[in-house]
Amino acid sequence: MNGTQTILEIDGISKRFHGRGNQESFLVLEDVDIEVKRGKITALIGANGAGKTTLFNVISGFSRPDSGSIMFYDERVNTHNLVSMSPHQIAGLGIGRLFQNLSVFKNMSLIENVLIGSGEKDGEFPFASLLKKSVGVAEQHKVRMAEDIIGKVLGETCTETGLDPGEHQKERWSQKFRFLQPLDRFVSRYERYGDIFDTPLSKIIKNDVFFRDASDFSFGQQRLISLACLFMGDHALLLLDEPTAGVNPQIVEKILTVIRQMVDESGISVFMIEHNMDAVLKIADHCYFMDDGTVTHFGSPADVLGNPKVRREYLGI
Ligand SMILES: Nc1ncnc2c1ncn2[C@@H]1O[C@H](COP(=O)(O)OP(=O)(O)O)[C@@H](O)[C@H]1O
Ligand SMILES: [Mg+2]
Repeated sequence: MNGTQTILEIDGISKRFHGRGNQESFLVLEDVDIEVKRGKITALIGANGAGKTTLFNVISGFSRPDSGSIMFYDERVNTHNLVSMSPHQIAGLGIGRLFQNLSVFKNMSLIENVLIGSGEKDGEFPFASLLKKSVGVAEQHKVRMAEDIIGKVLGETCTETGLDPGEHQKERWSQKFRFLQPLDRFVSRYERYGDIFDTPLSKIIKNDVFFRDASDFSFGQQRLISLACLFMGDHALLLLDEPTAGVNPQIVEKILTVIRQMVDESGISVFMIEHNMDAVLKIADHCYFMDDGTVTHFGSPADVLGNPKVRREYLGI
């Protein structure tokens, strides 16, 4: 297969779930073939329970298939069969994932959440740079990068929704971490970033927004924070499980724009499960329809969504 245009080649993947007690076992994935093209957005659609998330679990190494192979072609076109690799090894190849449910650290600040995204690849403990007392060049670079990404990804959603910093935000932080002070290294973990946050962006979004708990942001903004975190990592392929689910229409637009922008600017490849058909039509380059564990249709989003059988079985029209 042509590894220069294909980044992920799923070939003959089958997976059986064994029922508990007297429940029968069933094939959740049956002979699934999918190709994800490099630098493109590939959508996976299908009814609830079709097996989409299970397929993502198999790709990320959380679940072992009973048969088939999943070839990942890295940028040097080396081939890796993900089926025999651990989740950690798979992540190390630059395959990132946005989970179906929210995955921000609610009690950590926005900036911490995004900075965590940069830790993984070089084998560094993600929190390490946050605990160090002095800020080295590498950390300064990371903070600037995080600031830039937050600006791109969340920027106007913060100002539009009036997420302005509270008067006593810094006070609140020092109170919050007071119990840690004997540990010394935690002291002024935020103050030391003071002179770094002095870019044009900081003036648009007030610095304190960065230090707000992730839980202070709306559900849709938290989705954007998860995406920002993924964009911090040096990823080649992103697996996004329903990135727009449960999000208000304005933020849906923002999420789609941000994903498209990342693909166009950095050449990242995206494989996304999506329920919102307008979203699929708007941003996907290729589309696969899965019915009961089997891929039954694929092609351009317009072709797949226009197919009478897909419309009948999935859209109910
Ligand atoms: N760990 C599991 N053990 C047994 N059955 C599971 C497990 N995970 C999911 N299932 C079942 O497998 C089917 C596919 O689920 P899932 O992959 O989550 O579908 P989708 O993401 O397309 O909605 C469903 O019938 C679901 O109930
Ligand atoms: Mg799912």
